[in-house]
Amino acid sequence: SVLEMEVEQIKKGNYDHFMQKEIHEQPHSLTTTMRGRLKHNSVLLGGLKDHLKTIRHSRRIIFIGCGTSYNAALAARPILEELSGIPVTMEIASDLLDREGPIYREDTAVFVSQSGETADTLLALEYALENGALCVGITNTVGSTLARKTHCGIHINAGCEIGVASTKAYTSQIVVIAMMALAIGADRISTQARREAIIKGLSELPSHVSEVLKLDREMKDLAESLIDLESLLVFGRGYNYATALEGALKVKEVALMHSEGMLAGEMKHGPLALVDETLPIIVVATRDACFSKQQSVIQQLHARKGRLIVMCSKGDAQSVCPGGSCRIIEVPQVADCLQPVVNIIPLQLLAYHLTVLRGYNVDQPRNLAKSVTTQ
Ligand code: G6P
Repeated sequence: SVLEMEVEQIKKGNYDHFMQKEIHEQPHSLTTTMRGRLKHNSVLLGGLKDHLKTIRHSRRIIFIGCGTSYNAALAARPILEELSGIPVTMEIASDLLDREGPIYREDTAVFVSQSGETADTLLALEYALENGALCVGITNTVGSTLARKTHCGIHINAGCEIGVASTKAYTSQIVVIAMMALAIGADRISTQARREAIIKGLSELPSHVSEVLKLDREMKDLAESLIDLESLLVFGRGYNYATALEGALKVKEVALMHSEGMLAGEMKHGPLALVDETLPIIVVATRDACFSKQQSVIQQLHARKGRLIVMCSKGDAQSVCPGGSCRIIEVPQVADCLQPVVNIIPLQLLAYHLTVLRGYNVDQPRNLAKSVTTQ
């Protein structure tokens, strides 16, 4: 009805689509996610504090989720491993159920879901509860089934997300899991300085996100150059393996373009065969411990005349692409473990613009639902 359409437009404010609004909202949504939780040298997570001891004593932490929520957990996995010293494993909810993979009383199972209502995730939760694991929920939806049925948890507080393709919930999920890692690791003196640096990084994150959002126009230009292509690869590793998967997921979900995120360390074991002068490849090569390895990946792709788009830290264009033949996306550098929050944003913008330019429905992509509540 006309009224419904008017209400929609009011909710979108000055934006054309919810996805666009939600991408640009991220400095704010990240702020609300952190509100009241950051002290200058510690984090306070009310929903977790009575269970931290049990979590610290668990033998394994298992992340369980689907889609973007799985990718968010993957992005935060390295920092959780580092600060907790506990092995962290990843499970796609449906795959855990298909395999009936072993889960024990000594495990902490962390369920990540924007809606808190995804059927596969909830079935995996029932399964983990039956097997006696401590179950932690990370969700954006207060009162959701996930929030009610887990033993404890953390709300993402990113605000209502309407676009089917998850954007602001993804970045807030990463921040919540990073805060969880800080809370679990808080009893270790050896990592005190590292933790304080990350907390400082968290407090500065919204302003860096505002800065990276200024790439909007540039990403629209990039989208224009990719509009008619069939496929797009995204290579990442370490903290940014998830960036590759999530960037590619956004492109296939909304722009309806084939796209694959790949672990750069696996390049020689297959993907290299695809490289030619036409297939566009985005390489995430921002500064962290994997930087020199990514530099050599770029060299090898270049030697095979790959069509390269390199995402690098500000001022690094020369170091990642000496010949100047790559297209460059320069992003602000932040704490290594928080870099995936910044790096996904140009790719969200790219997916958005590609979709609009290709003439597809941004907020309700063909065949997809915001929340998949049946198996
Ligand atoms: C659907 C949505 C995705 C979402 C996934 C998991 O596939 O289209 O955007 O990432 O479900 O949803 P959840 O609510 O569990 O995070």
